[in-house]
Amino acid sequence: MIGTTRLVSFENADPEAWSGRTARTAAWLRRDGEHSFIAFSANCTHLGCPVRWEEQARLFMCPCHGGAYYPDGTVAAGPPPKPLTRYPVRRKNGKIEILTSPLPITTIGD
Ligand code: FES
Repeated sequence: MIGTTRLVSFENADPEAWSGRTARTAAWLRRDGEHSFIAFSANCTHLGCPVRWEEQARLFMCPCHGGAYYPDGTVAAGPPPKPLTRYPVRRKNGKIEILTSPLPITTIGD
């Protein structure tokens, strides 16, 4: 349904040998048109906690330090220093493909 935002999970394409279960990761995928989709990292840009989509509030919320993001991924409140990471999305052979990438690491105290 157009406008719907769903959590999709998948196997990390480049896991470490010791990753175990943490190789399983996720992204938020929204259908924003009949044939178009947008995807966001499921990790907050502050310290990486997993964000959740709150349909009623129309916000991505981070449980760790009160970070919040608007539906387009831009910061609405809290300490996140930048918008949620966007991933390119394409349709191929009837499937939705998300091109994920490593997330930037935030350092504190440097
Ligand atoms: S990790 Fe999300 S607000 Fe700190």
